[in-house]
Amino acid sequence: MSRLETGRRTAAPEPSAAPASDEAVPVIVSTNLTVGYKLHRERKRLTALRDISLTVNAGEFVVLVGPSGCGKTTFINAIAGIVEPWEGSIEVNGRPVTGPGPDRAMVFQDYALMPWRTVESNIRMPFELQDLGISKEEMDERVRRYIDLVDLTGFEKSFPYELSGGMKQRVGIARALVSEPDILLADEPFAAIDAMTREAMQGELERFVAKTGQTVVFITHSIDEAITLGDRIAVISYRPGRIKEIVDVDLPRPRFDHDVKSLPEYSELRDHIWRLVKDEALQSAYGDTR
Ligand SMILES: Nc1ncnc2c1ncn2[C@@H]1O[C@H](COP(=O)(O)OP(=O)(O)O)[C@@H](O)[C@H]1O
Ligand SMILES: [Mg+2]
Repeated sequence: MSRLETGRRTAAPEPSAAPASDEAVPVIVSTNLTVGYKLHRERKRLTALRDISLTVNAGEFVVLVGPSGCGKTTFINAIAGIVEPWEGSIEVNGRPVTGPGPDRAMVFQDYALMPWRTVESNIRMPFELQDLGISKEEMDERVRRYIDLVDLTGFEKSFPYELSGGMKQRVGIARALVSEPDILLADEPFAAIDAMTREAMQGELERFVAKTGQTVVFITHSIDEAITLGDRIAVISYRPGRIKEIVDVDLPRPRFDHDVKSLPEYSELRDHIWRLVKDEALQSAYGDTR
């Protein structure tokens, strides 16, 4: 429970209350959320997500899995404040989301680095885009600290083209962490990275968030990645996306060190999730017959 212990909390616990680390503090609350898009050319509306109710607690790592087009990106864009609810609501730290803010940061599949900027200068970008009210010294210190956390010390002056895929994604992660957001939103961040580096990156991400205590919403197509990283896995059905089931992942951490893949519970979970996503994936592959 070390991640929860490092989670933020403001109110002091009652003397008689249970230890703070055991209390669930809701951070993201989605209530009957329905989101869609206006398709101007076809003059119709497309419902991407329907009736999503999900609460993500402080320090929790929630993974979204589901077929392409089921609305996973739309959901994290709603948390990020990039798309608006059609119905229902989405709240972060007790307030309705009205737009992007420094309390939420994104990690993207294609890294989204600026090719003309060095590693250091890419990681510094959030300070240029928003006023976090911190001093220049604090900014410099954070940039150094997060470069160190993602093991890129020595590469500060390198440009993205000089880095491997795994290193580029570590820059993307450091850039997301540097504003010290409560919430990390990751949209298939390791999908473009080769299989071996990807497993190492999963281990590193688990280590970073154990240190920072961040709340994470993470999208993946990989069931193994979902089980390796998630405290809970929300399986989303084919469009319009609904939550089909939320699966608890009760495996020891750090999972990378525990070799959880060899545990019988691991293969049971894998089978269970595969059964949930299989029909949805087929429907996505062969088209919408409904
Ligand atoms: N900006 C947009 N305009 C119109 N339709 C969109 C837009 N973004 C996504 N969609 C549609 O919404 C549905 C859900 O998309 P998305 O959230 O990207 O799914 P996922 O991330 O699960 O693949 C898809 O049918 C997609 O084509
Ligand atoms: Mg997507």
